[in-house]
Amino acid sequence: MILAQITDPHIVAEGALFRCPVQGTAPDAERISREIDSAPYLARAVAALNALQPRPDVTVVTGDLVDHGEPAEYAHLRRLLAPLAMPYFVIPGNHDARDPLRRAFASDRYLPAEGFLQYTVEDYPLRLVALDTTIPGQHGGELCAERLAWLDRTLAAQPARPTAILMHHPPFLTGITYMDDYGLADAAGLVQIVARHPQIERILCGHLHRAIDRRFAGTVAGTAPSTAHQVRLNLVPGARISFIFEPPGYQLHRWQDGAGLVTHTCVFNEWGDP
Ligand SMILES: [Fe+2]
Repeated sequence: MILAQITDPHIVAEGALFRCPVQGTAPDAERISREIDSAPYLARAVAALNALQPRPDVTVVTGDLVDHGEPAEYAHLRRLLAPLAMPYFVIPGNHDARDPLRRAFASDRYLPAEGFLQYTVEDYPLRLVALDTTIPGQHGGELCAERLAWLDRTLAAQPARPTAILMHHPPFLTGITYMDDYGLADAAGLVQIVARHPQIERILCGHLHRAIDRRFAGTVAGTAPSTAHQVRLNLVPGARISFIFEPPGYQLHRWQDGAGLVTHTCVFNEWGDP
């Protein structure tokens, strides 16, 4: 089984442009923004996943689906994802809004009708458990007692099945402080639950707009690159947020009994022969 992960496409309404800061990492640096059209990036990602041999069995999109949580943005997102040749599942990020997202994907019938956008996908050898780490109106994330209790119950129900958890905010600090400032508040409750359920093969996250991994409570947690703009790698404490147009990417998670879950981080750009 091959699971494709794309993340953070930040789609805006059709015809609009997406604005992101690209320079100004030093505290006194001039702030420069660049306007980009994030839609062609996602369209290219969809075409690239469709062209893969072997083709992924399923795709997940791990949050920041759109930039402002507005219905017109979700309508545009759905049109862009429609050509995907395999089933796909989405989770919310800090730029999403729960109810417009829920309404936009209601016909796919996997999102709950109310409450947090948490669900499972049972159709594949690797079970998917999707978490909602969002706090309305804020960029940071959290898993409250209600969400953690759901996770614990859900994992306890099928302890023998290899499982991947999907969540937008990674449950660890990365050293990129301007992202860590908007990270997951208090991962202690999650640590306790994950440590109790050894069937968790991986925790798959977005938010960081680049590939970063860490050991976490007996499993591996990691983030995937964005389909569009990447977060600049800057480990200077206190540096300001900045994006960079490194090659956009995605991850392929290949599950095979006996071989485990192996993650490949890939770029969409074609570089040709050396
Ligand atoms: Fe994002």
